Parts: sequence; C-alpha cells; structure tokens
Amino acid sequence: MNDENAVVAGLSAARKAIQLYPPSHPSYLEAIAMLINAVTAATADSSDFVLNVHLGRLYCGSQVMSGDGPALATVSMSLEAHRVESLTFHPGFTADEAAALADVLNLRPSADLSVTDELTARGVTGVTVAALGEAGDEEERAERDRQREADRALYRQLISAMRALTSNVREGQTPDMEQAAGMVEHIMERLVSDEATVLGMATMSAHNEASFFHSINVMIYSLTLGVGLGLPEEGLVSLGIAALFHDVGKAAFDLTDPAQARAAQALHPQYGAEILSQIPDTDRAPMLVAYEHHMGQDGTGYPERSEEYFTHPYSRMVSIADRYDNLTKGAVGAAVTPDRAVIQLLREAGKALDPTFCRLFVRALGVFPVGCVVRLSDQSVGVVRATGTDPMLPHVRVVWDTMGLELDPPCEVDLEVDGRTVVEVLDSDSLNLTVADRL
Ligand SMILES: [Fe+2]
Ligand SMILES: [Fe+2]
Repeated sequence: MNDENAVVAGLSAARKAIQLYPPSHPSYLEAIAMLINAVTAATADSSDFVLNVHLGRLYCGSQVMSGDGPALATVSMSLEAHRVESLTFHPGFTADEAAALADVLNLRPSADLSVTDELTARGVTGVTVAALGEAGDEEERAERDRQREADRALYRQLISAMRALTSNVREGQTPDMEQAAGMVEHIMERLVSDEATVLGMATMSAHNEASFFHSINVMIYSLTLGVGLGLPEEGLVSLGIAALFHDVGKAAFDLTDPAQARAAQALHPQYGAEILSQIPDTDRAPMLVAYEHHMGQDGTGYPERSEEYFTHPYSRMVSIADRYDNLTKGAVGAAVTPDRAVIQLLREAGKALDPTFCRLFVRALGVFPVGCVVRLSDQSVGVVRATGTDPMLPHVRVVWDTMGLELDPPCEVDLEVDGRTVVEVLDSDSLNLTVADRL
C-alpha cells in the first residue's frame, strides 16, 4: 500500500477503534500506531502531507486516490459530512493528536460543529484543517430550505383545495375546473424546473386523508408521463385535471361504511363520469378518464364494454399513474418499494397497461425511483433524491453513515462520480423512515 492510502486506511481504522475500544485496548493502540506510522512515512522528507476531498472523492494533492474502496469512501464521507475540504498533516504528528483527530471526526456532524475549533480545543497542531466556504454554502442551504418550504406549502394548498372540491361535490355542486386548472399549472411549472423535487413530493401520503394525497400524486405521476411524452401545455392541463378527478365518483359514497366502500370501488367510474358530464362546455377528457381508468388494455377491469371499445390515451396514462401510486402506498405491509413497483408495472405492460406509455413512465422514474431507500456499497444508507444519466447510479441523500450514525445535515452524493454503488433497496416502513421528510 502506498503512503497516502496507508494514511486513509489508518484514519479509517482509528475512527472505528475509538468507537469500539477503550484507550488501553491493543486494537485501539494498533489502529493509532497505524495512522502515526502512515503519517510519519508520508511526511518523511519533512514536507506536509495534504489530503483533499471534493465531490465524494479523495485527492492526494491534485491526484485522485484509488485503491481500498471502503476506507476511501468512509473517510471522504466523514470529511464531507464535517465540512472539511482538506487535512494537512505536518511532520511530528503525535499519537495523542491522532486520537484527537479520530475523536473529532466521530463527533456527530452539525451546522454548529467546527472541526478546526474542536482540534484547537484539544491542543492539536500536527494537523490543520481547511473548512468548506461557510458563507456560500449556508446561503445555498438557506435557499434550498426556502424552496423546500415553498414546495411543501404548495402541496398543503393542493390538499386543502382538493378537500374543498370534494366537499362541494358531496353537496351536489360540480367541481370548479378553473381552480383545478390553477393547481395543475402550479405543479407543471415546478415539474418542468425541478422534476426530482416534484416526484419527491408524490411520496407523501396520510392515512386519514389518503384519497386527497392519492389524487395529487396521480396528477404528479400523470404529468411526469405527459411531459416525457412531449404533450403540449394545453394537453398537459387537460391530463392533469383528468388525473386529479379520476376518482371523483368516490365522493358520492361514505367510504367509512364497508358496504358502501365496496360499492364505491365498483361504481365510482360511472358516478365520476356522471358528475363530470354535468360541467357545461368543458373538455371531455376528465369525464372519459373517470369512466375508463379501471379498464385494462386486455379487456380486463371495469365497467364492462364491447371488444371494440377504445380507451382515451389519457385514461391509459392515468391508469399507469394510479397503479404506481397504489402499489407504492398500499395498505401497511402491502405496499412495495418503488423499484419493485416499477418491475410490477413492466410485468403488466402489454396486459392491463398500455406498453408504450408504461415503458415511457418507467424510463422517467428510473431503476431506483426518487424516494427509494438504498444501502450503498460501503453500508451507508440514503434516499434517492434524483435519477442520473446512468439509471443505476442515482443522486442519493445519505442519511446514515457507514457506522449507522445519522448525518445532520445529510450528505448529498452523485453515485456517478462517487464510486459507491447501490447494493440493496430497503423498505422504508421497516426502517421507520418517512421518506418525504428526508427529501
Ligand atoms: Fe379509481
Ligand atoms: Fe385511483
């Protein structure tokens, strides 16, 4: 092993040993000695040894480091989480300083923690730290937080608008199409500028108001498919409204009564079409979609129809969005992870679901759709934040580090430049993780 890789391996070993063993334990002493020997060798010609980190990669000077993957990944992630840009080791670095450095890098990262201050407080002079530019990063983070809050407010507005629209329908009024069009346009605007964030919003659900969340999410997924298909704006608005109202017929039933809920499942297409047909002079697509969204391409589904019956393209698109949301948000225990839902859609493509639209939708979502909880090759765990150009290598927000410690703030990595890969998709329920809170 060359000197620089030995330093990284020593640092990784020291961090682990300090967590696991008391200071007099042989394994602890061995790990510290390993780091000291490596630094001594790397600074043997009485020059400093500099370790840089950038975008999840370690550099020795300007040379990117390769070799022992897990140690490189653990150290680079720990440095990035602690907002360290570089570590400069000076000749004469001592065992006490090695232990102090490992100790500081094991502190829980947070916005208030300064590695430089912590090292100074421990009297360390054998290693100096360059921290990432605070001001610029803080501003960037504040801006991200603002946008996130605005998106959440938009989603809450959509839910309350949906609540009002549904109660109007219950009172026998027809839905307000202008209000619905406004909701669709808001989402379309955000979808075009930041598709990943909008897809992240669609991971939200709430047990007590599941039907409102479902309508909004089916709209988001339908629009994603519509944008992927290149539909013009007018078509997207029509598709979005149709998706929003696809289950409007259910408003005519009391879903808390099991007998009525069963009837609603069978009859909501007819009831929905009936409600939407009462709106004068409007686009007919929402009515058709309400009527046809449970019709399979292979003649399965309902309501019954003749063999020649041909469904509207928007109905076929909404069917796919509806199926995906139902698969991923199914009842507790019955929901499947997003990657499995995608595989299931592909199984149903050409049977109940339109094969062309299905493939387009799956391509838009990727192999690991936004919201997938993934374990990476170094055992850290994160949530897929966006899909990349390589469908196997998404952008991941790492939430737990290699040791299972929660990262605060989380660490953003692009697997395409990071070197780690996805080894497993985890079930967010079994981890007790609310994905939408992490996006
Ligand atoms: Fe439905
Ligand atoms: Fe539905």
